Amino acid sequence: MLVLCGAWLLGAVLWLHTPNQQEHKPPLPGPGQTPGPKVQTSANDTAASFRTETCSLIPEAWRFDCYPERGVVVTRELCEARNCCFIPASTAFSSASRPSGKNGIPWCFYPSEFPSYSLVSLNDTLLGQKATLMKEVKTYYPGDILTIEVEMRYETDKRLLNHKFFSIKITDPSSSRFEVPISVPTVTNKTESPDYIIELSKQPFGLVVKRRSTGAVLLNTTVAPLFYADQFLQFSTSLPTQFIYGLGEHRSTFLHDVHWNTLTMWARDVPPTEQTNLYGAHPFYLAMEDGGNAHGFFLLNSNAMDVALQPTPALTWRTIGGILDFYIFLGPDPGSVVQQYVDVVGYPAMPVYWALGYHLCRWGYYTSNSTWEVVKSMRNYGIPQDVQWNDIDYMDKFMDFTYESKKFDTLPELVRDLHAHNQRYVMILDPGISSTQPEGSYWPFDEGVKRGSPGSAVWNPVDSVWPGLTAYPDFSDEVTHEWWYDNLQMFHDKVAFDGLWIDMNEPSNFLDGSTSGCPTNNLENPPYTPGVLGGLLRAKTLCATAQQKQSIHYNMHSLYGLMEAKASARPFVISRSTFPSQGMYSGHWLGDNRSQWKDLYTSIAGMLTFNLLGIPLVGADVCGFSEETQEELCVRWTQLGAFYPFTRNHNAISMKPQDPTAFSPLARTAMKEALLLRYSLFPVLYTLFHHAHVHGHTVARPIMFEFPKDVKAYGIDKQFMWGKSLLVTPVLDPGVVYVDGYFPEGLWYDYYTGDCVTSKGEELQLNAPLDKINLHLREGSIIPTQAPNLTLWVSTGQPLHLVSALSQDGSASGDLFWDDGETIDTYETNQYAYIIFSIAQVLTFIYFVEYSNLPCVLSNHIEASYITVESASFYGVTEKPSRVLVNSQDAPFTYRNNQVRF
Ligand code: NOJ
Repeated sequence: MLVLCGAWLLGAVLWLHTPNQQEHKPPLPGPGQTPGPKVQTSANDTAASFRTETCSLIPEAWRFDCYPERGVVVTRELCEARNCCFIPASTAFSSASRPSGKNGIPWCFYPSEFPSYSLVSLNDTLLGQKATLMKEVKTYYPGDILTIEVEMRYETDKRLLNHKFFSIKITDPSSSRFEVPISVPTVTNKTESPDYIIELSKQPFGLVVKRRSTGAVLLNTTVAPLFYADQFLQFSTSLPTQFIYGLGEHRSTFLHDVHWNTLTMWARDVPPTEQTNLYGAHPFYLAMEDGGNAHGFFLLNSNAMDVALQPTPALTWRTIGGILDFYIFLGPDPGSVVQQYVDVVGYPAMPVYWALGYHLCRWGYYTSNSTWEVVKSMRNYGIPQDVQWNDIDYMDKFMDFTYESKKFDTLPELVRDLHAHNQRYVMILDPGISSTQPEGSYWPFDEGVKRGSPGSAVWNPVDSVWPGLTAYPDFSDEVTHEWWYDNLQMFHDKVAFDGLWIDMNEPSNFLDGSTSGCPTNNLENPPYTPGVLGGLLRAKTLCATAQQKQSIHYNMHSLYGLMEAKASARPFVISRSTFPSQGMYSGHWLGDNRSQWKDLYTSIAGMLTFNLLGIPLVGADVCGFSEETQEELCVRWTQLGAFYPFTRNHNAISMKPQDPTAFSPLARTAMKEALLLRYSLFPVLYTLFHHAHVHGHTVARPIMFEFPKDVKAYGIDKQFMWGKSLLVTPVLDPGVVYVDGYFPEGLWYDYYTGDCVTSKGEELQLNAPLDKINLHLREGSIIPTQAPNLTLWVSTGQPLHLVSALSQDGSASGDLFWDDGETIDTYETNQYAYIIFSIAQVLTFIYFVEYSNLPCVLSNHIEASYITVESASFYGVTEKPSRVLVNSQDAPFTYRNNQVRF
């Protein structure tokens, strides 16, 4: 083996002889760092006690699990056969008894010199460097690859200011391995002044990444050995912080617990449950460092994987296929991390305007007429509703692209009626296509088989969902996209639906694999299986061996929802299963929650996480899906739901109705008020989505995104913000008329009254009667609002009312994006207006703000001419003005409670 020595300074790379110790931490027990003898497997007493001694030098929090396999009682013998340290930990579970999520201090862990790779060559490339790594000894996982290649790219993307990231790709030079087929931008610039310093350690190979400005160690892979076997790829890193977010899809608090918490990713149909892999897979985390900087880490890999967090803090990525392809985003603020991530995976689509209205749905309307009745009742009560949905009960025998001809005979008429009222219709589709209809009677299947790739296992009629036996379309094949489109087109000719709800696309299967089982091989039973629910990759889905056009299902499984969404195309798609870049094609709802207060609370974390993952069009089933809701819960949920970027009331079959019209006048009115509030804020919401689409911003965001230096905000997931201006404090508990909310330092104005609160960064108790959701405007904001109406179509025709919340120096600003609401890509084709509102000075001049002179950038259009500002409120005006001029004319105004209103 070639041994390298010497120190080279190559651009951003500092070549080191020994890996760096992480500051402020106990000695790292990484390979080569704590000197000691090689761990022996001999039963010799002296060696054993010596080993125990050296192993025990490794602090508990720094023990990296050498025996992550579940269902095995890890004995000393098994552990030492892996050349690992065995020390039963008093407070821990043994590996055998660990649940899939929270485990404990590992009893079997890597010794300091567990064999790993050494760096044997390093060469400059156009964008960075390429290294070759080798190791001499194969580990216990079959297919261990002894020579691997590391390509490091030090990139900056000039499209976004201060946008810096770099990426590392570790591959097997001797064979081509599966790579996730999503297109990431090719960047051609090597950054000249990176925000980071990279240090490489040679033997064993390790990578240390530091933030140049603070020295914070963002990544340090020297803490545990690197594995690169055919079906077991693993690396660990220390973390500079315990504040870790992202890593969807899981039901948890927004801030992850790093105490021996393993999060498994593998798309799965299961009602949101703690410590279980759920519908989507998102191997991306955002970390808040000391001092308020943030960075992000993305592993572009779609195979089943575990992400193990431990309190050091440290994190282990453990995946069973593909390559190691990862990106680090330097932020430095959390919003920029998300922008940089989204720039790699893809910007979310701009939703059509009505997507932001109120959606009503349930499983079990049973007939089109009873669906229609609810719509009519909503209209009668004057409750806003933009979209009516139907679940699988509209279908004939649960078959896609059909509708039940008796019970849903009036469906086309219902849809026409919705359209006549400027409302829209969305229907569900499941991916399973019934495969047992008499030949010639069900075009979707017959045609699919005709067009499908011969031998494609996913088309074999062996799997099962709602309609009995089904076949699964292979959305990784372009031919399937055409077939899907043709089906949609033909059905659209019958029922003029406006959008699609793509469900069950993990893909979900009522069987494990298929009726005829799955082959016995190393795809179905890999050497290591991550902590997937059911213990098998095929649990409630297809065989891992199923052949798809682009690869085997083993690699493609968690991409199914993404590929189906891609085939379904805009204008409106909501998908249950998601993968990075999903936001380009669809939104997401958080799945089969329950009508419980706890689910109301956890929906906020889900919503915030998906915003961070670049899928801002997200919300939970309002009032809860399974179980009977209660009136109070449903009111509070509708209030919170009014601030989900995507708001849909959805209910399970056999449950009592839970649409707003099903409740008492008091509750109904409270729900109506909440929805009218949402509709009045539509210009704000639409503008936020524009920023998500164009700049990769979040829409609903955690408070800490706006106040990254305020550590007290890091764990908050009972409140959230819309953009940078609005703070939402919902009630999440039964029987209360008060709610506690945290207010970061500054002035906050009650949205309804204009009353001002000065906070030093403290928790305040707020009045919260049943008909109120607390909403505060941050100082320095201007937001455009409109008089609400029954649909957004009508609401958006109303003149604007601007609400300005002055900062302490009397300034404020805000903006508005406006287009026709429906044309796709108006930003890209320059058919929009973008208006900035600003108040630069207060003193007496505030009162002379002239709207005709508002700076209006890039306004090019048509649509802008439809917007007028009819009225405005200014909060925080401490003296009564003598005059208010609007367009240079004196305007009548009122002054009350530090507020000017005209
Ligand atoms: C599962 C979905 O998550 C749920 O929302 C839907 O109602 C049922 N499938 C029936 O289609």
